[in-house]
Amino acid sequence: MNFSVADHRPLVLTGMQPTGRLHLGNFLGAAYHWRKMLEDYQCFFFIPDLHAMTVATKAPQLQDNTLSCIAQYIACGLDPAKCTIFLQSQVTGHTELAWILGCITPLGQLERMTQFKDKALKQKEFIGTGLLYYPILMAADILLYNADLVPIGEDQKQHLELARDLAQKFNSRYSEIFNIPEPYMGSVGARIMSLQNPKEKMSKSDPSAMATLHITDENSVIRKKILSAVTDSQNDITADPERPGILNLLNIYAAATQMTLESAVEHFKDHRGYAAFKNEIADVIIALLEPIRQHYLSLREERDYLLSVIHEGAMRAQARADTMLSKVYHTVGLL
Ligand code: TYM
Repeated sequence: MNFSVADHRPLVLTGMQPTGRLHLGNFLGAAYHWRKMLEDYQCFFFIPDLHAMTVATKAPQLQDNTLSCIAQYIACGLDPAKCTIFLQSQVTGHTELAWILGCITPLGQLERMTQFKDKALKQKEFIGTGLLYYPILMAADILLYNADLVPIGEDQKQHLELARDLAQKFNSRYSEIFNIPEPYMGSVGARIMSLQNPKEKMSKSDPSAMATLHITDENSVIRKKILSAVTDSQNDITADPERPGILNLLNIYAAATQMTLESAVEHFKDHRGYAAFKNEIADVIIALLEPIRQHYLSLREERDYLLSVIHEGAMRAQARADTMLSKVYHTVGLL
């Protein structure tokens, strides 16, 4: 694979926090799309481990989550021979650029971020400043590589909007050095909801064990979670926002089979009752995730290999980051 500086394909950059096991939303809303980009783009898939520090985690747990995240990336099909996989904390430039961008970010804009407000509500006793600063670090992650395209699920749209704003603000205040990054979102799967409360998005931190389907769950667990997904007391299958449980399952099916929501509805139009419907969805998800789990389990034993992947990734990422950071320093007048 060509990792030379002369690679002129557009650059994709994105990442997932190593705050726990990845879930179906991370897969259908993110990694599923990422792996289709390997041929047509220069792909930089990183692990935002500094972002993960906004959640209080003990050091051994963070290390374990990070190694596990690398293994899950590769198991999801992100072939290290075709993309650059690296840790945010191993490349100098993310926090430096974040500081500079912070100096041009209005405080009010950060305070209005939906995710900040939601998370601050949940972390009542202690709200670290990192939680407020988080979207600036994310903007720095993107702009440090001058990314063209940023694949994200719907929940990250507002953060990407901030990155675009900051790029524009910097360009007009100093000089036009940043691309304005474009979001990339799948037409289905961009917002997978909790299986137990389909009005909330599926998340790694959900306290309800049956709400989140992890990509490394055993087949029997996957089936159990899908069969016990909250639905409603009707018995036909329609894509109706008033029926969020059914809509979520339809979205999951559509994203997993790469069909449109309309085709998924058509596929199930003669079904009455939910047992066969749920079992068919479970079959599809199991077929999709089983090879990933098997691959993950074997990779997880290969600590040295995982470390070598991020070591090489960090070297490639650093080369790109150095060029951009020097340009930024020069532009703002740092000697
Ligand atoms: P994170 O770790 O929360 O999520 C990783 C990716 O998964 C998507 N996602 C979902 N998609 C569909 N349904 C869901 N329920 C669901 N939950 C999560 C997210 O939209 C995301 O694409 N701040 C980011 C990480 C980050 C980043 C970046 C991403 C840091 N720097 C730079 C892109 C570029 C985050 O916390 O994602």
